[in-house]
Amino acid sequence: MSRYEQRVEETYHRHMQSGKPALILGIETSCDETSAAVVQDGTAILSNIIASQAEIHKKFGGVVPEVASRRHVENITLTIDEALETAGTTLDDISAIAVTYGPGLVGALLVGVAAAKALSFARGIPLIGVHHIAGHIYANRLVKEMEFPLVSLVVSGGHTELVLMERHGEYRILGETRDDAAGEAYDKVARALHLPYPGGPHIDRLAAAGHASLPLPRAWLEPDSYDFSFSGLKSAVLNALHNAEQRGETVEPADMAASFQESVIEVLVEKTIRAATAYGAKQVLLAGGVAANSGLRRALADGCQKAGVELIVPPISLCTDNAAMIAAAGYVSYQKRQFASLDLNGVPGLPLTSF
Ligand code: KG4
Ligand code: ZN
Repeated sequence: MSRYEQRVEETYHRHMQSGKPALILGIETSCDETSAAVVQDGTAILSNIIASQAEIHKKFGGVVPEVASRRHVENITLTIDEALETAGTTLDDISAIAVTYGPGLVGALLVGVAAAKALSFARGIPLIGVHHIAGHIYANRLVKEMEFPLVSLVVSGGHTELVLMERHGEYRILGETRDDAAGEAYDKVARALHLPYPGGPHIDRLAAAGHASLPLPRAWLEPDSYDFSFSGLKSAVLNALHNAEQRGETVEPADMAASFQESVIEVLVEKTIRAATAYGAKQVLLAGGVAANSGLRRALADGCQKAGVELIVPPISLCTDNAAMIAAAGYVSYQKRQFASLDLNGVPGLPLTSF
């Protein structure tokens, strides 16, 4: 056992014997938010600091990976300090450091991973690697305790997945997108409507003022499939806008936003409820940036009520990327004593299996 491993062991036993709640320091830098948080026993947020770069990337209409990495480097230390200070704690009291190591932008992931490894090495604190999507799902545990089996609909800028969980830390993907992620479709349609990046919240707001009067396709795929596809819908929107422009007609942006949103939501909700029923889910969890969507939250609440299954939805602040959800997911690994070694690396295409 190396000197580092011995120190990690000592820290683990000291914390276990103290009888105090476990404090997990979470670190998230997979995309364009630099975030650090302290979470107690995987359920209570003591701090959750988020330094967003959205304003910087807005100019470019999307996240510029090199710029994101550089900003993470500038922000990471201050963000971690602020998370500890706001939580009223120090590294002495931190039981483990949980960091997102994939999926995401490799240069961005590496900043968080390097910071977590440096602190772990310097202080002998256990290190935990967290899957970003596991984090999104565990944002729900900061709201209410999970009950299994559960089905989670994960809808973010990079992912659209229906995940079945039968116990903590174990994930079975029932279906996923075959092309664009839901958030990606929102952002592309928003760009076509000349809305700023990220477009999801703008479409959401605009949709509330429009009528879903334009005919747009729904990609149901094979009858028993839990997979999704959004590229056909995105193309239909772009074609409709283009054709109208060529004919010198105008399409009411609010109506287009409402029609697009209805088309996305109908498929997401139908498949989620079908999966929840088929697998006897006790709960449906909504996760990921698109979970902030007001239309989706409403429609899923309706669907779950009709199906008689409990719905958990994180507050908006926990839907988009943040480190509290990473700490919450990391707590599960902490309880299983699943620690990473110092060769932990950023893995852009990390699959979601067991964590
Ligand atoms: O989970 P997230 O913060 O980052 C990834 O892990 O991808 O998700 C970001 C995505 C963006 O595509 C953004 O447009 C979308 O979430 N989003 C929304 C809303 N708020 C954020 N999409 C629809 N409606 C919203 N209110
Ligand atoms: Zn995310």
